[in-house]
Amino acid sequence: MIKGIFMEEIGIDYNRLPSHVAIIMDGNGRWAKKRGLPRLAGHKAGMEALKKIVKKSGEIGIEHLTVYAFSTENWKRSEEEVSGIFQILVYYMEREIREIHQKGVRVSILGDLQRLPGPAREAVERAMELTKANQGLQFHIALNYGGRDEILRALRSLSQKVEQGGLMPGDITEEMISQALYTEGIPDPDLVIRTSGELRLSNFLLWQSAYSELYFTDILWPDFQEDAFLKAIADFQMRKRNFGGR
Ligand code: IPE
Ligand code: IPE
Ligand code: MG
Repeated sequence: MIKGIFMEEIGIDYNRLPSHVAIIMDGNGRWAKKRGLPRLAGHKAGMEALKKIVKKSGEIGIEHLTVYAFSTENWKRSEEEVSGIFQILVYYMEREIREIHQKGVRVSILGDLQRLPGPAREAVERAMELTKANQGLQFHIALNYGGRDEILRALRSLSQKVEQGGLMPGDITEEMISQALYTEGIPDPDLVIRTSGELRLSNFLLWQSAYSELYFTDILWPDFQEDAFLKAIADFQMRKRNFGGR
């Protein structure tokens, strides 16, 4: 029997999509190593994978997609790798932003932009400005993002309010903490996907993922295609979420 040339699309229930999918895009370096290529070739290939997943997310009607692009710990890597990652980001932003904009995607950044190399900061600021009125997919890029750093900043801003007398410590609520995070106004992720077989969060959305469904796959990020994405969503749709209740 001849196998169909076209892969059948994985069945998901479009009425029960996760509102917010967050992805730890890991495995670029190993993908490159397997091919005898420099690590930066892996990061470039990772951008191509990201392009497809952003497109697919918009098409199927996901409201929020957050991707972990660079962590507060990733500065520990070689200067060459770090600057290469940001160059690839700038290149991608400049090449793709028009198409992203046409598709109604709104770009936002989670993380501390101050420390980014100038061209990277300017490229993401331009992308946010250009797409700020778009009503389609909300695409959040976690860049120089760390969950602990984010919570620390929230603590500092709330304690400043306490010091100024506008707030009593006993009146601080979980809601106020949520609103003091980079993800202010964004619902918590329903589904967190991590590629490349690592089974950890690596400082990603620590507060927000309290009740997220976690999905791990051995696929390296540059190989993560639309079908793998739909498979993760299908898996999510089979889970029973309790939120501590019964
Ligand atoms: C993820 O891929 C991308 C970033 C962290 C920027 P890695 O670069 O961590 O790839 P591996 O884990 O070394 O394979
Ligand atoms: C997490 O991947 C960060 C990003 C994907 C941007 P890492 O490769 O940095 O995580 P660890 O160091 O293996 O935990
Ligand atoms: Mg890694």
